[in-house]
Amino acid sequence: MLTNQSIGYMDAPVPKDMNLKEAIDKLRKEKNAIILAHYYQTGDIQDIADYIGDSLALAQWAAKTTADIIVLCGVHFMGETVKILCPDKKVLVPDLNAGCSLADSCPAPEFAEFVKQHPDHVVISYVNTTAVVKAVTDVVVTSTNARQIVESFPEGTKMIFGPDRNLGNYINSITGRNMLLWNGACHVHEQFSMEKILDLKKQYPDADVITHPECKQPIIQVSDFVGSTAALLKHTIKSEKKQFIVATESGVIHEMRKQSPDKEFIPAPPNDSTCAYNECNFMRLNTMEKLYNCLKFEMSEIFVDEDVQKKAIKPIRKMLEISEKLGL
Ligand code: 13P
Ligand code: SF4
Repeated sequence: MLTNQSIGYMDAPVPKDMNLKEAIDKLRKEKNAIILAHYYQTGDIQDIADYIGDSLALAQWAAKTTADIIVLCGVHFMGETVKILCPDKKVLVPDLNAGCSLADSCPAPEFAEFVKQHPDHVVISYVNTTAVVKAVTDVVVTSTNARQIVESFPEGTKMIFGPDRNLGNYINSITGRNMLLWNGACHVHEQFSMEKILDLKKQYPDADVITHPECKQPIIQVSDFVGSTAALLKHTIKSEKKQFIVATESGVIHEMRKQSPDKEFIPAPPNDSTCAYNECNFMRLNTMEKLYNCLKFEMSEIFVDEDVQKKAIKPIRKMLEISEKLGL
């Protein structure tokens, strides 16, 4: 995943007395850059971003920006998705080491072989995949639009879904489809502790348990609401409930609290840890200092092979077109 760029600049010293918010803002204006941040970023990065969103929203913003530079505060596959959509723009990420265990659970050669073994199947890939996997895909989905995109194919269509087995199982269960699933998973969403969630339910009997579909089936089964990061956020805004036990990466709680300051958000804890909340170690590699250095030095840039880009843009565009038609 790392390019051959030097990555030493990422940790270049930043003066301690520097007002990072002002410095980042100045650079962004000077360079006609925009900052896109995923909800799993730290609060300070979310607050300075031009746009915050889930995977679908970030791709939608990237597709329509007129900025010269796009800084993607998220993980590598998100930067790749933006570069595929905007091949002529400079796409930067604050830390090139920000990978994704789910994308890593789907090595491109093995996935291509799996696809080859099922030539009569439509290939549906979750956005959490590398560009090379997207290049052998018919349509990309995110957790916000997976159900509707799967249902846009006639009943009986043979389908492969990769790489998240939990999201795939969940979509199969709510659509009645029988997609063949790749056996991949996200180490963050698979780590929630059922025991601790059940304890929290006893402690907060009026709370809704809200869960991302990358979580394991038993956690989904004890949940009151299941949805993508954006859907969970929307649910907390619309719901009359005052307390929510949140089973997804805890970064999204920052925006939930901002949107609903009168409500209480309790992060669901992971297994095997004394930690009360669950963070993605990859997402959290990005910092304000690295964001500043990335804009200042215009590194680390994301590159995608031209041939791969030309193939991978088709299933991403297809996703964006279907999402637009469905008003997502
Ligand atoms: P969404 O942003 O589509 O909800 O996906 C969650 C995730 O794990 C991103 O890495
Ligand atoms: Fe990947 Fe999971 Fe982190 Fe999302 S939370 S970036 S799926 S490792």
